[in-house]
Amino acid sequence: MDALVIQGGNPLSGEVRISGAKNAALPILTACLLTAEPLKLGNVPHLKDISTMLALLGHMGVRVTLDDRNQVTLSGESIPHKEAPYEMVKTMRAAILVLGPTLARFGDARVSLPGGCAIGSRPVDLHIKGLQAMGAEINIEHGYIHARCKRLKGARILMDMVTVTGTENLMMAAALADGTTVLENAAREPEVVDLARCLVAMGAQIEGAGSDVITIHGVEKLHGADYSVMPDRIETGTFLVAAAMTGGRVRVTHTQPDTLDAVIAKLREAGAAVETGPDWIEIESDGTLTAVDVRTAPHPAFPTDMQAQFMALNCIAEGAASVSETIFENRFMHVQELRRLGANIEVSGYTALVRGVPRLDGATVMATDLRASASLVLAGLVAAGETTIERIYHLDRGYERIEEKLTQLGARIKRVH
Ligand code: EPZ
Repeated sequence: MDALVIQGGNPLSGEVRISGAKNAALPILTACLLTAEPLKLGNVPHLKDISTMLALLGHMGVRVTLDDRNQVTLSGESIPHKEAPYEMVKTMRAAILVLGPTLARFGDARVSLPGGCAIGSRPVDLHIKGLQAMGAEINIEHGYIHARCKRLKGARILMDMVTVTGTENLMMAAALADGTTVLENAAREPEVVDLARCLVAMGAQIEGAGSDVITIHGVEKLHGADYSVMPDRIETGTFLVAAAMTGGRVRVTHTQPDTLDAVIAKLREAGAAVETGPDWIEIESDGTLTAVDVRTAPHPAFPTDMQAQFMALNCIAEGAASVSETIFENRFMHVQELRRLGANIEVSGYTALVRGVPRLDGATVMATDLRASASLVLAGLVAAGETTIERIYHLDRGYERIEEKLTQLGARIKRVH
């Protein structure tokens, strides 16, 4: 298994280009199942999760072609295998996103129940309840969700909890339903808006994406489209935190500043200078930061996918701060690893109290989930001496060539096999 070896202490400076958003690309890839015509996508990031999704779609019968300019063309003309097998779903929960579009277009879909994962049980009960409200007959047996319905009917659906992929699954299903669907308490994440924009480019009629009430008027058919995936706001936030912690001046380009208001506000509160342009953000810091309280919640509040990164920032900031995780029940796996680097963190329930220490000391640590791994990289960049991070396959799921991008910014980091 690969590991990353980091020599801490270098301030970061220079420019880094942000890749396409993993959490927008994943649902947008599955949208190809809604039409027989080709869907051509730009700015799709090269990530493990993306290749897993492409393999799943290929297994189902989608013709996938990649060209040299990062364009992916997906043709869902014929889908002989309307199912997502356990072997593919167990490594990537987002596979659940094939359920809505496959059911909506073909009236039949069989998707393995995703298992839990490191950060929580992550049920999909709201996906299922929403499809049932649209008339789907759903049986769960032998670990599979089997959904059938001649044609889905529009419905008013009040989601018990804000669920990002739940909102996305139901929005895609409703696009081909008979009549109008209203999703209330819908997720407002920018990735939901990006998917809606792609569906509209394919001929869907959707209003209100980005608000908590999304209205979808079902149509008979959707056509192909050319679409470019939005930039990754979590990759952006991760590089901004890296620059704030190491001290230095970094400009992130090809990004979308207006998707990161809560994160930018927290960076400024911590004492970093942040400037934004139409598609870039520049951050400058002398490395001495003030600890900031963080409480995760659905967009537009502070994103749970940036919680671990800000915990790393608080580890070396001045003062003490609380980090509260309200979305997932077990998203503090990075705490014990950060402690190995000398961090002072106490956890009680869903809140961690972080007391800043003058410095962290390099050690060998283990990645446990995607964003926890990112927080360990950030800590390694500032820890004295050498930090080795094992099991970085977690990191490769969500960050494209992170060690190359960090090296470009002056970090001393290398991948060892
Ligand atoms: C999406 O996961 C993201 N993944 C996650 O990013 C992100 O952390 C999460 O949204 C929250 O923003 C993708 O978009 C592919 P949820 P998702 O459904 O949709 C509960 C990363 O690091 N829930 O919004 O699976 C659930 O257990 C990943 O890139 C139900 O109870 O998250 C959780 O506590 C990690 N029943 C809460 O809702 C359901 O049917 C939010 O989950 C659905 C969800």
